[in-house]
Amino acid sequence: MAQRIAVIPGDGIGKEVMPEGVRALTAAAERFGIEIELTDFDFASCDYYAEHGQMLPDDWFDRLKDFDALFYGAVGWPETVPDHVSLWGSLLQFRRRFDQYVNLRPCKLLPGVKSPLADRRPGDIDFYVVRENTEGEYSSVGGKMFEGTEREVVIQETVMTRHGTDRVLRFAYELAQSRPRKKLTSATKSNGIAITMPWWDERVKAMGANYPEVSVDQFHIDILTANFVMHPDWFDVVVASNLFGDILSDLGPACTGTIGVAPSANINPEGTFPSLFEPVHGSAPDIAGKGIANPIGQIWSAAMMLEHLGHQEAADAIVAAFEAVLAEGDKAVMTPDVGGTGTTEGLGRAIAARISG
Ligand code: NAD
Ligand code: IPM
Ligand code: MN
Repeated sequence: MAQRIAVIPGDGIGKEVMPEGVRALTAAAERFGIEIELTDFDFASCDYYAEHGQMLPDDWFDRLKDFDALFYGAVGWPETVPDHVSLWGSLLQFRRRFDQYVNLRPCKLLPGVKSPLADRRPGDIDFYVVRENTEGEYSSVGGKMFEGTEREVVIQETVMTRHGTDRVLRFAYELAQSRPRKKLTSATKSNGIAITMPWWDERVKAMGANYPEVSVDQFHIDILTANFVMHPDWFDVVVASNLFGDILSDLGPACTGTIGVAPSANINPEGTFPSLFEPVHGSAPDIAGKGIANPIGQIWSAAMMLEHLGHQEAADAIVAAFEAVLAEGDKAVMTPDVGGTGTTEGLGRAIAARISG
């Protein structure tokens, strides 16, 4: 049976990197005899909002729920739609309604890419951020009072549930257990955020009882960001709340040279709903329209999607292809963020050609 994939390019460079993600996906599917059926959607974009006054059609949930996976580009065009409107009206709905409670984000220094950190080589930085993806600081509980007066008050509550926390911790422990170093780092802030964060630490400890082989440490988020820069080799699997995980998953890839290569998997591990695969980066209005965005974040996300769908060999072939093209380092092919003069399409085509073999 064909794998049914919803393709949602979104805004800005999302529309430029998506064709390269699809090119790589199609090349891998052809090479490994995987039948895929792609369906394009123009919603979950600010262009759609301009026409319809909302980011998604009313029946979006029913239209997407039976796909095997969702392949998303990037969303947001703050010049026309405020970011909280576009993001809460699209991506954050997908994550919450499809219960994609794990956001898995690899940070890996790739061959041929220069880290901004001195003397770091491929192999030195290779870890995962496991980000809680449906609750925490991203909450709709709160409100405004006395608006427009000097006594204006705004409140937005952090919501952590035992169910929601334990399930993402379980995923992180399982991942750590499956890796050679078996090391888990928890991002906390239990010195200052004195209710939710000490409780998070307790849940980390409690879950650890099931994973005696995994060694666990924890850092307050402030020094953890410093250690990402000073000692990125310390990390193997890093588990964090929604907001801390968001910040760490831009910082990690920045330490590996560019956020343009970073992928993510928004996973509903039970498979009740489709999981969603997208680059970590946004729509990059500053370079949109120039055709110079790095497509590897999108292409690597395609690999994560194939792996999730059970096509490990095809996923590995995509990763091997972009690693080989990066290692070759042809400046005319590399995009500017990785030191070249090439284009999104040029780099995408070079990778697809390599996938096809
Ligand atoms: P951004 O990730 O879009 O861009 C940050 C910087 O990184 C920019 O200088 C950009 O040029 C660069 N960059 C990003 N992707 C790149 C790539 N593939 N190749 C080369 N350079 C790349 O973050 P931002 O500027 O904070 O946000 C812009 C818009 O995107 C906002 O509307 C924001 O809300 C949205 N956003 C969406 C997502 C998403 O869809 N998942 C993620 C982050 C931000
Ligand atoms: C990400 C993005 C989103 C997030 C924004 C655009 C809402 O930054 O996917 O990392 O904060 O989760
Ligand atoms: Mn982010």
